[in-house]
Amino acid sequence: MLKSFDIYSQNNILKIIVALNLLLVGTGSLLYTNRLINKLELREEQYIQLYAKSIAYLTDTTHSNSGDLNFVTSEILQANQTIPAIYVNPDGEISMPLNFTLSATMTDEEKQQYLREKRDEMRKNHMPVVVEIGNGVRGLVYYNNSGSLRQLNYFPYALLAILTSLGVLAYLAFSSSRRAEQNRVWVGLAKETAHQLGTPMSSLMAWVEYMRSDPEQFDGSITDEIEKDVQRLETITARFSSIGSVPTLKDEDLNDVVQQFTGYLARRISTKVKMSVASQLPAGQTVKMNKLLFEWVIENICKNAVDAMKGVGELRLNMIMLPHQEVAIDITDTGKGISKANMQKVFNPGYSTKKRGWGLGLTLAKRIVEEYHDGRLYVKSSDVGKGTTFRIVLNTD
Ligand SMILES: Nc1ncnc2c1ncn2[C@@H]1O[C@H](COP(=O)(O)OP(=O)(O)OP(=O)(O)O)[C@@H](O)[C@H]1O
Ligand SMILES: [Mg+2]
Repeated sequence: MLKSFDIYSQNNILKIIVALNLLLVGTGSLLYTNRLINKLELREEQYIQLYAKSIAYLTDTTHSNSGDLNFVTSEILQANQTIPAIYVNPDGEISMPLNFTLSATMTDEEKQQYLREKRDEMRKNHMPVVVEIGNGVRGLVYYNNSGSLRQLNYFPYALLAILTSLGVLAYLAFSSSRRAEQNRVWVGLAKETAHQLGTPMSSLMAWVEYMRSDPEQFDGSITDEIEKDVQRLETITARFSSIGSVPTLKDEDLNDVVQQFTGYLARRISTKVKMSVASQLPAGQTVKMNKLLFEWVIENICKNAVDAMKGVGELRLNMIMLPHQEVAIDITDTGKGISKANMQKVFNPGYSTKKRGWGLGLTLAKRIVEEYHDGRLYVKSSDVGKGTTFRIVLNTD
């Protein structure tokens, strides 16, 4: 059965609310600016139509009093200080450039050339507006959108960029507050456990000493067994106390540590699990580590491997050198495997597929490797039904 803790579900709801709000604001603003742009575009087009009409009116020679109406064009011309436009008369000559900055040093030919290029550009953006002069004779007005409208066109993209970065920022803030919360829970819990175990532990040690001093009354073999259990409890307490504080790292011979510890583990797991250790590391290769915590990592991964094999199969540890002064410890089992979708999830706190699992073993292991040893822990490969390889990468320098 799949279980999951609820510690962070509130955070998830908040995340969804923030994401929904951003989405709402985003689409709302996009729709609004889109409407605004369409409206302004229509107005600019209407304006150019009016401009074209006034040109038609003025160039129509049948109007005897056209001179009196000159003000119509000049009014319109003055009112428009932003929409670039040109008039191409029936002979194909370009005249009346509107809102273009033409340098005074340009010759007439250069000006025409420049305006011809502009006309071609404008043609790509808008169909020219026809100026009916009469008797089937036509001129054309080419135009572009005003500078402000062109800027407004970029607005939705800018908005999108801003909202995306806001989303990313919010996400980062959430996950860092979540990590801080996780850290506090881990450290607090570990310290408290070590502290609580301390008192009964020293009293148990005293009892063992007492039993040893009286071999007639207490069977020596039983005392030995109890002592082993007490030592085991001591190791657990020491692990909790190291994880609750900044652990000290020491140069340790990796081959030795792994050999020794797997020897210890092998005696504690099912005899139907064939355990083997291989190493391609140079003899005496050291790694800076906290031995207690590193052993805890190996133990968690090996225990999971044994569970995944239901107590029957092969468990292989292999150590190799990697480039960049790194070593890898690969732990391979022949168990049920992990699907691609779950390869990341297995490291989430609370993720467990076991009846009695807390889903903390791998979270803890990852934390020990990555935060305390500056290394990496990940699923190197896994085949459902065939087995899994976990890889621990540590630095040797
Ligand atoms: N070698 C493996 N093969 C297949 N599945 C694995 C393996 N290792 C871990 N898993 C999956 O990842 C889950 C999480 O492992 P993790 O060690 O974090 O928790 P757990 O073993 O369920 O509980 P506990 O807190 O007691 O360790 C397991 O429940 C299991 O489904
Ligand atoms: Mg586990």
